[in-house]
Amino acid sequence: MKFFIDTANLDQIKEAQDLGILDGVTTNPSLMAKEGITGKDNILQHYKDICELVDGDVSAEVISTDFDGMLKEGEELAALNEQIVVKVPMIKEGIKAINYFSNKGIKTNCTLVFSSGQALLAAKAGATYVSPFIGRLDDISTDGMNLIEDIRTIYDNYMFDTEILAASVRHPMHINQCALMGADVVTAPLSAITALLNHPLTTSGLEKFLADYNKGNK
Ligand code: E4P
Repeated sequence: MKFFIDTANLDQIKEAQDLGILDGVTTNPSLMAKEGITGKDNILQHYKDICELVDGDVSAEVISTDFDGMLKEGEELAALNEQIVVKVPMIKEGIKAINYFSNKGIKTNCTLVFSSGQALLAAKAGATYVSPFIGRLDDISTDGMNLIEDIRTIYDNYMFDTEILAASVRHPMHINQCALMGADVVTAPLSAITALLNHPLTTSGLEKFLADYNKGNK
């Protein structure tokens, strides 16, 4: 399973990159705004800065909701760096845009996916990635993990190449469950990724090993 980090914060991206486990980055307009990145030129420069930091795919989301606007924005984003994946919302115009980008060899990430039917359409349109939002489903008392399982089954039934990119991840158990369900990629905040490191028996075990070493080497 690939690990993407879900942030536009350069320090956090660098920290995950330094761990040696990072395969890519996802951003969205809210994450960019959270870092205070506003204005088209600053936003495009920030995508370039992120691409400099990591080797893998970097999702950059279009703001337009009409077909022509998405094409113009997507082509501009894709021209920034070959690592850029054009992130397109799961709407009618978005599906048409994904199909257009797919035919042109531009990578896409179909975002705001909340049902397996939407995921089926994204795959038919040729999306590189589909982003089911598991945390936001959990927020409305619907098990987001069931959606990952259903999409896995559908994609395997028809051998779609579209990769399942589990998004809206909130905690380390989401990452574990995504791995069990066979998600191809998980994008998560740094806190959820580093939380995977922790186990109280690891902490106490290491303390004991070091204490015993120090006793014997006084
Ligand atoms: C990433 O691709 C998504 O935009 C992101 O994971 C959404 O996360 P949220 O539901 O925590 O805002």
